[in-house]
Amino acid sequence: MNILLTGGAGYIGSHTAIALAESGHSVFAADNFSNSSPEAIRRVSELSGQRISCFDMDIRNTPMLADILLRKEIQCVIHFAGYKAVGESLTKPLLYYDNNIATTVSLLAAMEEAGVSRLIFSSSASVYGEDAPSPISEEAGIGGCTNPYSRTKAICEQIIQDAAASSPVGLQAVLLRYFNPIGAHPSGMIGENPHGIPNNLMPYITQVAAGILPELTIFGGDYDTPDGTCLRDFIHVMDLAEAHAQAVEYLSRAASSNTDVPTVVPINIGTGTPYSVLDVVKTFSDVNGFPIPYHIGARRDGDIPALYADVSRAEQLLHWHATRSLADMCRDAWTWQRKNPEGYWLR
Ligand code: NAD
Ligand code: UFG
Repeated sequence: MNILLTGGAGYIGSHTAIALAESGHSVFAADNFSNSSPEAIRRVSELSGQRISCFDMDIRNTPMLADILLRKEIQCVIHFAGYKAVGESLTKPLLYYDNNIATTVSLLAAMEEAGVSRLIFSSSASVYGEDAPSPISEEAGIGGCTNPYSRTKAICEQIIQDAAASSPVGLQAVLLRYFNPIGAHPSGMIGENPHGIPNNLMPYITQVAAGILPELTIFGGDYDTPDGTCLRDFIHVMDLAEAHAQAVEYLSRAASSNTDVPTVVPINIGTGTPYSVLDVVKTFSDVNGFPIPYHIGARRDGDIPALYADVSRAEQLLHWHATRSLADMCRDAWTWQRKNPEGYWLR
């Protein structure tokens, strides 16, 4: 199948491109490289053995997008493009509302114009808000988001629901609610490439490991959890990538099914197993054979003590579950950092 990845040069898009190519799909990407490098696409092509075409464009350019969908005979779109930094979204909310929502509206309009009916959307566990008890199932209500970034995801989910309900092309969508993706392709050729000082746990740890940052601050050691640090559902980015390939299969089955299937389905993508921040630090040290200096600091505003997935729907509908361990995530994250101390160069 011909599949377009918006934001395909980014962290999750580049890993998904490999999983899709390995499943026999023809992969196309569209990216404005606002948070990525064309080098990622070059390396994906090398790793997958498939020459991936990447259109250098803003997804808000609806006519250009519709033209690509038609010319490349795209049958399914995976929508990764958007901004993702929670902290930045608090200081620049309009940037986030504009980019994350306008790209989604533009894409839906282009798909309608080109007659493309299958969509997979990058949503986030943060749409559940702070009061939902873990493990969280998709039946839990969304909203109660603690920041503009998460609100853009909840709003885009609603926009996709509304577009599907009135779609002239029979839009069918899967909303993948990612938990905490970490790690990298085991080759160490592609990985996460944060600008400046990382906000997220794993890139911070790998930069401490590389000596770029002096030590990790663990945000809060007095939560009501087994070791006092927050619990998260960390998932290897290659497991997450493979979940997208299974979502493509799910949409194909739904299109050929005679029975009624819901037009828009939210699905949690995590392992279902919570690990604490300290578990990650200790596993990273054990697997890679050296200590990570850290101290316990104050809690970070907006952090939820425990957030992990009920993954039964992913198993039932996608026939997928995560197979890689926390040790795999820590080893592969370090291989990427070690081989690419400065990430990809940016243009
Ligand atoms: P990323 O920043 O690495 O990738 C996003 C890509 O989109 C980048 O290559 C960027 O250049 C591109 N982009 C942004 N705005 C664009 C625009 N207007 N036009 C064209 N390209 C544009 O992020 P990622 O970690 O790969 O995340 C992918 C998606 O998954 C995002 O929507 C993100 O919100 C969502 N998500 C990520 C996480 C996570 O922890 N990484 C968790 C939950 C959800
Ligand atoms: N943490 C530290 N020190 C750091 C960085 C993080 O202790 O330097 C802790 C945080 O306090 C939290 C845990 O590590 O307890 C995970 O934090 P991350 O920032 O890595 O991830 P979050 O769970 O806050 O958020 C991530 C993505 C969001 C996404 C969410 C979905 O950043 O985009 O997962 O679960 F919405």
